[in-house]
Amino acid sequence: MIHRIVSLLGFLALSSISIDTAGAQNRGEGRKLYVTYCTACHGEKGKGDGMAAQSFPVKPADHTNGAVMNQLSDKFLTDVISKGGSAVGKSSFMPAWGSSFNERQIRDIVAYLRTIADPPYKRDGNKR
Ligand code: HEC
Repeated sequence: MIHRIVSLLGFLALSSISIDTAGAQNRGEGRKLYVTYCTACHGEKGKGDGMAAQSFPVKPADHTNGAVMNQLSDKFLTDVISKGGSAVGKSSFMPAWGSSFNERQIRDIVAYLRTIADPPYKRDGNKR
């Protein structure tokens, strides 16, 4: 009996660990893409202070600013990333990435963006 409970607990622990790492991998993948393709303009830490954007007429937002970023829906973030700034009425200096990345990669980037917001993003607690 005790043996069964122990192995059940072990199983539960293992399965929750694997769920966690799956989530972390997606965000990790998103982070890699962000660091590679986005930081030139959005800055190393996403603060909107990348070298390339310094002379732009419209500066990128601070992606670590939860007060701003948490108001933006997943759909908006997905759209601006895949279709570019001009498609959503923003600066055309924000390129469209829809032909470079697949949907999963863009979802991973959005998942990563959600992890750097301060105050933290709450899926159900924020306006959508
Ligand atoms: C060539 C410079 C450049 C690159 C590279 C770039 N962006 Fe942007 N991005 C911008 C600018 C400029 C804006 C601001 C547009 C506005 O406010 O009108 C912007 C806006 C955004 C926004 C809307 C929030 C905000 O900052 O205003 C998101 C989200 C975003 N970019 C994500 C990304 C992601 C993800 C990548 C990498 C895959 C990326 N960007 C690469 C220049 C860039």
